[in-house]
Amino acid sequence: KKIGVVIVAAGSGNRFGDPIPKQYHTLGGKTLLGHCIECFARHTSPELVQVVYNPAHQNWYDGAIAALGADITTLPAPIGGGVTRQQSVLNGLRALSARKPDIVLIHDAARPGISDDVITRVIKALETHAGAIPTLPVADTIKQTSRDGVITKTIPRDTLQRAQTPQGFVFETILAAHEQFEGQEFTDDAALLEELGLDVMCVEGTSANDKITKRDDFDRAHDWIDSTNK
Ligand code: CTP
Ligand code: MG
Repeated sequence: KKIGVVIVAAGSGNRFGDPIPKQYHTLGGKTLLGHCIECFARHTSPELVQVVYNPAHQNWYDGAIAALGADITTLPAPIGGGVTRQQSVLNGLRALSARKPDIVLIHDAARPGISDDVITRVIKALETHAGAIPTLPVADTIKQTSRDGVITKTIPRDTLQRAQTPQGFVFETILAAHEQFEGQEFTDDAALLEELGLDVMCVEGTSANDKITKRDDFDRAHDWIDSTNK
């Protein structure tokens, strides 16, 4: 099967709060985006890895690519993203469609701790499902509250999972879903298939693959890179 990859890196990292967007910060000499590109390129060929970026970040993007391994020579030109993550994903899927992948893995550049094992589990689950995503069980007790902060309900924790990426799909199915729901608000790609009543399978994620959202998350990832390089 031909595996396409969309890496979305067009965000501005407002919550991270640095002039340089988080995807262009470096861990162990490579940017967050660079770590993602290298990991996915190992599971398919680089020409099937489509990066979505903000053209205003061109210099940072070029710097990220310059630090990649010498084997990543045939990466396609990045495509411009949109105002929302969802629009950025759709732009990436449209760009990829000319290369006719059978399945596609959609990944956040803000998850540099992605591993071969997680990618393999997602691909495997796609043999029997239209969609598959890595998740982790929720460790804390979750409270539903009213707007003023008073608890209205405790949600049974064993029914909850935290969604990660890469989220994998049959290519034509997720492209059609994104076209259909263009402009509507969804926080991840699996939600579009759920809306269509299609089964999305959860496979085991890892804590290293948690998203870098704030500065603290980045500092923790630094410790993790340091410990794996020892
Ligand atoms: N993303 C994107 N296009 C957007 C918004 C987000 O490609 N219009 C990407 C980000 O670059 C990131 C991933 O989607 O890799 C997850 O988004 P998030 O963690 O929210 O990143 P940002 O939107 O950049 O951060 P913030 O929400 O704090 O501004
Ligand atoms: Mg965002």
